[in-house]
Amino acid sequence: MHRATLLLSTLLTLLVPRPARGYFTEERWSPESPLLAPRVLVALVCRNSAHSLPYFLGGIDRLNYPKDRIAVWVATDHNIDNTTAILREWLIQVQSLYHYVEWRPQEEPSAYEDETGPKHWSNLRYEHVMKLRQAALEAARDMWADYFLLADCDNLLTDRDVLWKLIEENKTIVAPMLESRAAYSNFWCGMTSQGYYKRTPAYMPMRRQERRGCFAVPMVHSTFLLDLRKEASRQLAFYPPHPDYSWAFDDVIVFAFSARMADVQMFLCNRETYGSFPVPLRAHNTLQDEADSFLHSLLEYMVRNPPLEPSVHLTTTPKQPDKMGFDEVSV
Ligand SMILES: *[C@@H]1O[C@H](CO)[C@@H](O)[C@H](O)[C@H]1NC(C)=O
Ligand SMILES: *[C@@H]1O[C@H](CO)[C@@H](O)[C@H](O)[C@H]1NC(C)=O
Repeated sequence: MHRATLLLSTLLTLLVPRPARGYFTEERWSPESPLLAPRVLVALVCRNSAHSLPYFLGGIDRLNYPKDRIAVWVATDHNIDNTTAILREWLIQVQSLYHYVEWRPQEEPSAYEDETGPKHWSNLRYEHVMKLRQAALEAARDMWADYFLLADCDNLLTDRDVLWKLIEENKTIVAPMLESRAAYSNFWCGMTSQGYYKRTPAYMPMRRQERRGCFAVPMVHSTFLLDLRKEASRQLAFYPPHPDYSWAFDDVIVFAFSARMADVQMFLCNRETYGSFPVPLRAHNTLQDEADSFLHSLLEYMVRNPPLEPSVHLTTTPKQPDKMGFDEVSV
């Protein structure tokens, strides 16, 4: 071989990168990467919740779900407590973690014209809450969210994996059963022909988790997940009530009727204990009653479970259940 040719071929061998060993063998191909988590919009409509928000938001913080796949939609109105300041502080701290944050505070007025007190659900209040939830649902649809999670601002989601677990159930509407005092929970097993609560023998075995699973029920409320990828979800609405609606003007009944008209079955899962929430108070109760009731619920929860921590993103120090609270409960 000519000397120059030899040099050239040597150079070429050195310069031209050889195909990496095993280039053509199967093990060199990169496996497909996992899917990104589905897009979830979390809707929080809070009023006079200063007593529960630090713990409630702690539960949201600790959800085991990629925050950059979550949009948070928060509204608050008609407050006489520190709810707005707490939510604002939390949103400022966490907004960079989430995909998107929408904040709709309304400072004035601090009460509805037709209400007798802050715990009274007047028609104006029902209507306002339904409209806010509908606005949140429409925001979720506009951003093509896959899921819509609604949670009341005193619902303590203690199972960090609750969102994944609900998603895996593959239902259009699914709620995690929440613990509460006595027999109360966030679902009904029976409904009267007027849309009101009906006692049924099926309720207690489910509430006590003697029967476990995900069950078709006529009502779930407080915390639930909507799968917006399901076609029928497009007909769901919090507001306005369905044209055929003639039952009580009540947010949860209006939504349950909407599901019924859309042929969407509500499901309640009680395979595990996903969280807890306080029994709702009555119209004549005060915010102090509510704060006391919440502390009791928190305490009852902590007697049987590890302590619940408030959100680390807040400077405000919430009242904590103490020894005195414990003694009150045990007598
Ligand atoms: C209200 O909440 C803000 C934000 O957490 C906090 O800085 C402030 O001290 C709170 N005010 C009262 C009166 O609790
Ligand atoms: C979830 O439900 C849909 C119908 O709504 C069905 O097409 C799909 O296969 C289900 N997915 C799984 C993983 O079961």
